[in-house]
Amino acid sequence: MSFRLQPAPVARPNRCQLFGPGSNTKLFAKMAASAADVINLDLEDSVAPSDKDAARANVIAAIDAVDWNTKTLSVRINGLDTPYWYRDVVDLLEQAGDRLDQIMIPKVGCAADVYAVDALVTAIERAKGRTKPIAFEVIIESAAGIAHVEEIAAASPRLQAMSLGAADFAASMGMQTTGIGGTQDNYYMLQNGAKHWSDPWHWAQAAIVAACRTHGVLPVDGPFGDFSDDDGYRAQAWRSATLGMVGKWAIHPKQIALANEVFTPSEAAVAEARAILAAMEAAKANGEGATVYKGRLVDIASIKQAEVVVRQSDMIASSA
Ligand code: COA
Ligand code: MG
Repeated sequence: MSFRLQPAPVARPNRCQLFGPGSNTKLFAKMAASAADVINLDLEDSVAPSDKDAARANVIAAIDAVDWNTKTLSVRINGLDTPYWYRDVVDLLEQAGDRLDQIMIPKVGCAADVYAVDALVTAIERAKGRTKPIAFEVIIESAAGIAHVEEIAAASPRLQAMSLGAADFAASMGMQTTGIGGTQDNYYMLQNGAKHWSDPWHWAQAAIVAACRTHGVLPVDGPFGDFSDDDGYRAQAWRSATLGMVGKWAIHPKQIALANEVFTPSEAAVAEARAILAAMEAAKANGEGATVYKGRLVDIASIKQAEVVVRQSDMIASSA
């Protein structure tokens, strides 16, 4: 470890973030009753320009009127390249109650984007005497966003989570795909005539995880558009979890259970992690820093790996 210790992210489950358009009020109660850890009421790209004002008013009313239980409640505002975002922030912070936990800033391209929203939020909180500080989450979904991912992760103490937004990211990067996440037919290696598909989202995910872990932010995988493809969603989510992400979005309720399944450490994984910790305790008692567990090396680094699984499992259990 560097002399600078790696900060811990906020200790709350973020396995599934369920989205719904702010213009579709009949979804709100269903979202609140769902098994998602985080609710994202959307004012951005699922809301038509003609509906922006109505959606904002719907969302402000629903923040106080709906029982969101223990969920993290977040509103996705419009991007800083639109004429809507300042009104989103001002009306939310002036009119919505303290049940609002978080604002999601889309299409963040540099740390100054986060700084601008932070300055506005801070001024309104002071003016209105709001005592519960609003947290931020951001979406990395542009070439600039991924190029500046580390400074964005460090941009504000309000920042709790960062998601990869595959669709806008692909568009901004000029990627030749119209799919929202998942396997891309044309992204393959060829060996002896056989195709081996690779993962075009991998490097961006890994860059996000590294930036997030450096600055104590939760890394999250964004949407998977084909909600009829459960296995495709699962495969994408398993890759994200393996890379260190803590959760994934759901854009349809059938994706919630899939995310919760993947991002809750399984009993078998937790049992294995605890067994490794026990093996290392026994090794330590014998004055050894390394030992053999089921025919393979485990050492002091294995303790830290096992603790990731156990800590995540304990945190999820204690918040249930
Ligand atoms: N949250 C909660 N419930 C939802 C839901 C959501 N996001 N999307 C659909 N449902 C409900 C429907 O109301 C329906 O309920 P019912 O059985 O009580 O009638 C049930 O789930 C099945 O819905 P279905 O008919 O399969 O979907 P749909 O055609 O009504 O809606 C979408 C499909 C994609 C338009 C809708 O899921 C949606 O708006 N998703 C979120 C989009 C979004 O927010 N995008 C921004 C982030 S990328
Ligand atoms: Mg987007």
